[in-house]
Amino acid sequence: MTIGKWLAAAGAALVFAAAPASAQTIKIGFITSYSGLNGNLGPYMERALRLYLKQNEKMLPPGVNIELVVRDDTGPNPDKAKQLAQELIVRDKVNLLAGVIFTPNALAIAPLATEAKVPFVIMNAGTSMITTRSPYIVRFSFTLWQSSYPLGQWAAKRFKRAYTLVSDFGPGHDAEDAFTRAFKEGGGEIVGSVRVPVVNPDFTPYMQRVKDSKPDALMVFVPAGKTATAVMKSFGDLGLGQAGVKLIGPGDITTDEELPNMGDVALGVLTVHHYSAAADRPANKAFVAAWKKEYGASETPNFLSVASWDGMDAIMQAVREQKGKLDPDKTIEILKNYKNPNSPRGPISIDPETRDIIQPEYLREVRRVGGALANVELETINPAVKDPWKELNKK
Ligand code: PHB
Repeated sequence: MTIGKWLAAAGAALVFAAAPASAQTIKIGFITSYSGLNGNLGPYMERALRLYLKQNEKMLPPGVNIELVVRDDTGPNPDKAKQLAQELIVRDKVNLLAGVIFTPNALAIAPLATEAKVPFVIMNAGTSMITTRSPYIVRFSFTLWQSSYPLGQWAAKRFKRAYTLVSDFGPGHDAEDAFTRAFKEGGGEIVGSVRVPVVNPDFTPYMQRVKDSKPDALMVFVPAGKTATAVMKSFGDLGLGQAGVKLIGPGDITTDEELPNMGDVALGVLTVHHYSAAADRPANKAFVAAWKKEYGASETPNFLSVASWDGMDAIMQAVREQKGKLDPDKTIEILKNYKNPNSPRGPISIDPETRDIIQPEYLREVRRVGGALANVELETINPAVKDPWKELNKK
């Protein structure tokens, strides 16, 4: 059944139901992963939203409150994501949808957002074309092109021969395409490319093949979380570092919260990304300090946390400007013109033409800082990167 029919049927059924929540309650349908592949990541997003709300509740217009309706999509599972979004729209009557780690889930939700006119604030899923799938999507996270294209440009100056290894789905394909294009444009040679299953790949045979072809660098994209640690272990176990292969990639492969689990094999890994918990910008220091105060000294936010934090800040702006009465089109108008010169990741804005984020990209190296591994920002590769895929495909 299309969501239109769903809405009609459910609307009829709900006429005699209890009165809806007060008009002044803004409901956010928050979908992320608490189980399945990298299901430990969901809380990094939810905690950011809750911390933001706790710190900023007083900014809400009088009588207005924000309610999170939290759902587990169980990992990369588009059918489940679609079902949850449908229920959130029809039954819970959410004003906005937000969250979503995985691209296939975001793509499954996109047509529902369009049909029901519900703004959908993406806080992770990073395949470039997602934002073209609905005018009701605004993305506060990143694209893989944003990190992997500048990574390829930088890598071409330092390495001659590179191998690429990526997860076989949207963001992996984007990381491979972006890196390969930039690396070749810079004069580099791709000596091998492999795409591995998204869920539970055994990296050993792939790493062995990489080692045999003796590249100068191995560019990897896998989803952040436990998958990144599995790559790191396999890279170390097969001795690729000792064989002279440099591990490089978008920052997903050295995601901040996994560094303690990766161990010394991560030392020296070079990545390009928009967020490191170790960054010393004052806004980031305040963010990390607030996180540790709220959740414990050994807890660290990651790039999913910062996207959720900034996305929530934009939602807060939309709520304030409309005094708590959200119109979907006005909300999108506000979200897509969002700017923040002082995000924990640096100056960010939304490109109103594409509804995708513009943000700095940093070159980072994993180093030991005060006894713990950290993504140390070495230089700002570009202070304001627009999604290169969209820039290169402009007519
Ligand atoms: C995605 O599915 O778009 C995705 C998942 C994990 C990441 C990055 C992108 O680390």
